[in-house]
Amino acid sequence: MSSIKLSNPKRNNSNKRNKSSWFDYYAGYSPEFVEDALNYLNLSLDSVILDPWNGSGTTTQIAEDLGYRAIGYDINPVMLIVAKAKGIDNKYLKNVEEEAHELIDESHNCVIEGTNDDPLSIWLHPSSVLIFRKLEMAILNKNLVSDKGKLQKYNFESISSKVAFYYLGLFKTIKKLLFPFRSSNPTWIKRPKLTSERMKINEDEVFESFLTSMTEMVSSIGTESSKKKVKNRAIISVNTSESLPLSSNSVDAIITSPPYCTRIDYAIATVLELAILGFSSENYLTELRNKMIGTPTIIKEPIEIKKEWGTFANTFLKLVAEHESKASRSYYYKVYLQYFNSMYNSIKEINRVMKGGSYCILVVQDSYYKDILIDLSTIFSEMGESLSWRVENKISYQNKRTLASIHQDTRKYRKSSAVSESALIFQKVN
Ligand SMILES: C[S@@+](CC[C@H](N)C(=O)[O-])C[C@H]1O[C@@H](n2cnc3c(N)ncnc32)[C@H](O)[C@@H]1O
Repeated sequence: MSSIKLSNPKRNNSNKRNKSSWFDYYAGYSPEFVEDALNYLNLSLDSVILDPWNGSGTTTQIAEDLGYRAIGYDINPVMLIVAKAKGIDNKYLKNVEEEAHELIDESHNCVIEGTNDDPLSIWLHPSSVLIFRKLEMAILNKNLVSDKGKLQKYNFESISSKVAFYYLGLFKTIKKLLFPFRSSNPTWIKRPKLTSERMKINEDEVFESFLTSMTEMVSSIGTESSKKKVKNRAIISVNTSESLPLSSNSVDAIITSPPYCTRIDYAIATVLELAILGFSSENYLTELRNKMIGTPTIIKEPIEIKKEWGTFANTFLKLVAEHESKASRSYYYKVYLQYFNSMYNSIKEINRVMKGGSYCILVVQDSYYKDILIDLSTIFSEMGESLSWRVENKISYQNKRTLASIHQDTRKYRKSSAVSESALIFQKVN
């Protein structure tokens, strides 16, 4: 192993042209970090790189671009689309504007039946929903990359990068146009109480916003040919980290950042994008939220504390249960219990699929419950040790994050919103 120098995982779109500006994912880390991590590991190009919490697809994009065999999973279908879009070949970008105009023209010929129970109609007047759905149909009809022909809606696993890229344009369009439903909490989109409060947006507004979104994405990275060495397309799909569809001892390296432990609701934060994908029934949302690690929802099944979670996690749970503040025992204790349980199940799964001697690089962020520190780097180190992982290195970064302080109670208990982020490098001992 060479000496250690890994860029800050915090995203910084200002100084480099990269695809992370395409989707403003506050949970995302920087492409530079992944590139440095891969250079540090110095693996042969036939190596399999896995990200079990792939999010916006930073790991899969960089690993694919550098020529590795990349696999990325995420439980949220929105993130599958974002991650796939990043795999688009730069050579297609030159024609995006022309193609976007074609899609708009073709949407006029698309026929859609009924939009009443469409999730978009929570916010939009049915006539506006129809404009979006016709444009979506024109996009879906372009899924020509695979031999499977036209894409079936909801079968997003087989979506091409190009179609995913146009979906990203739809995501941006809906977010821009539904701006009036934003609230002070950036993860929360308000819902109109009365159907009469739904927005009526005309064709010109939708099309103009779509065209602008597409051209903004292209100009954010330019259309020069990339130095990609793509040999293998990344495998990207929707899956839980608690049960990975991979054989034991099959992965050469993991580079990832686990879901935060800050009670931020990732499913709700992507509710508009989920609506574009057609997935917003209350049942679906509840199911997705329940499957997400770090969810603020409480799942009914009882969970037993395990000593393998480590001393820190066990002590932390005891402190939360005994904390004087309201709902500590009745609610927050359960939230953290779920988090540690799902996280440990995932770490065990990751350990199963890793080859002996391989590396796992985790980017973790500390947070607080009221005044109690949740030292995730110690918690993960202890979980790793219980599986015989060796801590090879730990690099700490100090970042200023605004989202860490969105909860009112955080502001009450602590003055600073600075958070400590660490990159932990583990090796699975044979
Ligand atoms: C910190 S983010 C990863 C961000 C990623 N590194 C990037 O650059 O965009 C963690 C991700 O874990 C996903 N997640 C939450 N629970 C999951 C689960 N049970 N299985 C798989 N993914 C899950 C969330 O949807 C989120 O995208």
